[in-house]
Amino acid sequence: MVDEIVIDSPLDMHAHLRQDEMLRLVAPLTSRSWAGVMAMPNLSPIVDSPAAAVAYRAAILEAAKEGSDEPFEAYTTLYFQTHYTRDFLADAKPHILSIKFYPRGMTTNSSHGCDPADPGVYDVLASMEELGIPLSVHPEAEGYYHDREELFGKFVRDWVRRFPKLKVILEHLSDRHSVALLDLPNVHATITPQHLMTTGNDWFGPPFNPHLYCMPCVKRPEDRDALLQACFSDHPAKIMAGTDSAPHTEDRKVACGCAGVFSAPIAIQLYAQVFASAGKENMLQAFLSDNARRIYGITPPKRTVRLVREPFAIPSSYGNVIPMWAGGTLEWSIKA
Ligand code: DOR
Ligand code: ZN
Repeated sequence: MVDEIVIDSPLDMHAHLRQDEMLRLVAPLTSRSWAGVMAMPNLSPIVDSPAAAVAYRAAILEAAKEGSDEPFEAYTTLYFQTHYTRDFLADAKPHILSIKFYPRGMTTNSSHGCDPADPGVYDVLASMEELGIPLSVHPEAEGYYHDREELFGKFVRDWVRRFPKLKVILEHLSDRHSVALLDLPNVHATITPQHLMTTGNDWFGPPFNPHLYCMPCVKRPEDRDALLQACFSDHPAKIMAGTDSAPHTEDRKVACGCAGVFSAPIAIQLYAQVFASAGKENMLQAFLSDNARRIYGITPPKRTVRLVREPFAIPSSYGNVIPMWAGGTLEWSIKA
């Protein structure tokens, strides 16, 4: 049995770090263990210009200093808008890693999102393909809540057929039907810890657990198993760690039913637990870093994280945010 795992420069390719007070709480909890993070643009106001992306990166790096003296990088993405022109995207390209498509109304702060059936989407995708800007997608379409990701598949197939050179990243993959989309040459994915470790019964209850409630929702055991198989055998080179760590204050989570699982401080240990319990520790480096470097063409800051098989007690809260599995115990700890 392996008792120690060393990871070079772990990268979280999908996380919500928020703004202001929440950013000051979450950025240090992220930089403590990760070498880099892709920060989602569903802020208020949304990140929809190169200047906003540059300012957001600076704010993250400033706040992250509290967490660690080790090198840390924040990658940014713009919130997809149909009015983006080719020239605008050419100016934005040096400052961002991707453009994030939010289907309108499908998740937190998605009121500025787009209708995936809007023909105006094609012009932007054509420019992105030409300029080599990847598309990150929240792949959920309107429909019964459990079927939303499957229903989005037709848009992915249409976009990939029209724009064969466009690199597409399906974020927080959750549904066994979507795994087949990874057969398409330029389609990649991120997967969260909760989608690999829990099923719908864990959030739905009873009792309902708001801290495991997210969009897309965690689904059936068959979906979780298909995602594990995709990571370990079907598409191991195409899938990256992307926690979708999404903090909401405890009062808003409970009173307003906000979707999001907060996992930033414990996600490396959670992923280690998934891979080690399947005897796939040797695949963790690719999942946590190498695939992202290759898919996005990035060289993250050099940093080493050492995991040891020692119980770690998950705090009951971080500030006013309740983490995934609060008060529980993890099998792996991070050692300095
Ligand atoms: O559960 C989620 N929370 N899913 C998302 O797509 C957004 C996120 C958030 O920003 O809270
Ligand atoms: Zn997200």
